[in-house]
Amino acid sequence: MKPIVADTEAINRAADLLRQGRLVAFPTETVYGLGADASNPDAVAGIFKAKGRPADHPLIVHIADIDSLYDWASIVPEAALKLANRFWPGPLAMILNKKPEVPLAVTGGQQTVGLRMPDHPVALALLKTFGGGIAAPSANRFCRISPTQAKHVSEELGDAVDMILDGGACQVGVESTIIDLSGSKPRLLRPGHITRQEIEAVLQTELMTPSASSAEPAPEIAEEIRAPGMMAVHYAPTTPAILCPAERLPDKIKQLIADGKRIGLLSYRLDIAETSQVRVLRLPEQAANYAQSLYAALRQLDSMQLDLILIEQPPQTEAWRAVNDRLGKASATAIAHG
Ligand code: TXA
Ligand code: MG
Repeated sequence: MKPIVADTEAINRAADLLRQGRLVAFPTETVYGLGADASNPDAVAGIFKAKGRPADHPLIVHIADIDSLYDWASIVPEAALKLANRFWPGPLAMILNKKPEVPLAVTGGQQTVGLRMPDHPVALALLKTFGGGIAAPSANRFCRISPTQAKHVSEELGDAVDMILDGGACQVGVESTIIDLSGSKPRLLRPGHITRQEIEAVLQTELMTPSASSAEPAPEIAEEIRAPGMMAVHYAPTTPAILCPAERLPDKIKQLIADGKRIGLLSYRLDIAETSQVRVLRLPEQAANYAQSLYAALRQLDSMQLDLILIEQPPQTEAWRAVNDRLGKASATAIAHG
């Protein structure tokens, strides 16, 4: 499926497709989403099929405005209104208790629903034209990197999607911050561009962080365990990746070269010359700019048929929290994979 420039005509056609229960990929400010009519369980089932994603993984419902919260949530707590007023449209998703009519297909069988008003003119125009909620996970196959450009979606989903709206490269580049407001205390489920401190400042309360054993959202780059039976036929294994502190990188690289390995280096500060055995991609030194380019860079390195990707470890500060979270997941799977 070739991406189509998201002009008014294309957006009208996309809204029609959604009404027919078909799948439309569209840009948001975070990553591209794979959208379906959130009120149509058959359409939603199509998302899981196209992604190869297990049916118990809940989806985020995208909405056109703050008032639409009341169409999906049985209770809209004060905290949700405060956060929506401050951060929407924007890269924040909120988990609320669902209304009885919200299909369980959308919520992965749970009594809660994820809601977000995205900050992208194409996504907002599509939502307005369509007139309902659009369920949309990231438009990648299960276990793959989220797409931040329309061409990534074509590479990922091929003809499993009915239309791909091209709205350029995503500005934020990592998935939304997720806050669970369905319980007695607000919990941070997924770090993102909007930081814990920004949210705590609005809510005037500390956010809880779920323990590893509780139901956390799926990791983003790796989307949990690999399920080989569910992969597309042409699934290419992800190149193993290792996070490495800058001071240890030169020795590590020397050792790998001596072992005859072809390596990719994803750096942001370290300046190492490229050779036939070492490919170098350098990302910006500022966290938000780094995040914006991260997934495209990982995709590029992954396509180079390297033995290993070395990632220069960014600082362990709050500004880098979302990036470190995604890098941790990318490298963790790789290590588990050898
Ligand atoms: O930035 C984003 O949020 C992107 C764009 C397209 O909006 N979407 C996205 O969707 O990242 P997805 O499905 O790849 O990730 C959504 C995460 C999943 O980890 C899921 O487990 C969690 O949100 N989630 C959704 N509904 C939930 C619920 N009711 N309870 C707990 N977690 C939920
Ligand atoms: Mg995802």
